[in-house]
Amino acid sequence: MQFEKLIKARRSIRGYRRDPVPVAVIDEIIEVAKWAPSSMNTQPWRVHVVTGAPLDRIREGNTRNMVAGIPPRRDFPMKEAYEGMHRKRQVAVAVQLFEAMGIARDDQARRTDWVMRGFRQFDAPVSLVITYAKYLEPAAISQFDLGAFTHAIVLSAWERGLGCVINGQGIMQSSVVREHAGIPDDENIMICIAMGYPDEDFVANTVKSVREDNQNFVRYVGFD
Ligand SMILES: Cc1cc2nc3c(=O)[nH]c(=O)nc-3n(C[C@H](O)[C@H](O)[C@H](O)COP(=O)(O)O)c2cc1C
Repeated sequence: MQFEKLIKARRSIRGYRRDPVPVAVIDEIIEVAKWAPSSMNTQPWRVHVVTGAPLDRIREGNTRNMVAGIPPRRDFPMKEAYEGMHRKRQVAVAVQLFEAMGIARDDQARRTDWVMRGFRQFDAPVSLVITYAKYLEPAAISQFDLGAFTHAIVLSAWERGLGCVINGQGIMQSSVVREHAGIPDDENIMICIAMGYPDEDFVANTVKSVREDNQNFVRYVGFD
């Protein structure tokens, strides 16, 4: 697929068919994505591909902890509340998703249900947990590299008819993920990617998020 067409066509997928994803296909996706650039070619990413019973245990553990009100704990410091334009964009995509799903503003039960789906990684058949070695902290550059790798994964998957959602909710209870995916103590969990064949009937999958005009975030210097 042509790159521009691919990058513009991809969108987050939050409803999946139950069909399993063959290991060979996942391996092919990673084989392509690993050509992402990284600082000094350090390739700091590690991938734990989880399915079946261990993934179900992660979903159950995430759900149990969130319902019990256990505060999220990630392996790295993170800003929790966005402001200004960032907050506006965050709300805008949520509105798009809720409108598509027919979830009313005051329908607290369905809103909560949607959030819980996120903690279950949208019931995707596969989750790729992306980690980096702890000794790399302070790891901003390695985290940047993992971002490039993650984008390559979701594009490579899309090219093969697989959908993904990069999913912070899935690793918010990092100890749950660490326990059931068997992630060594010397790795930090950065993010997970839920992956599977898109459920064509799941309306939120049709939502196309918007992007800012270049003029609002690009400056050209020294061109005149
Ligand atoms: C680091 C990161 C974390 C994300 N975490 C979640 C998440 O927890 N739940 C969710 O529904 N979407 C999550 N997303 C998906 C974003 O909401 C989505 O990429 C954004 O709204 C743009 O939409 P698009 O992917 O369809 O282009 C995450 C994306 C990134 C890059």
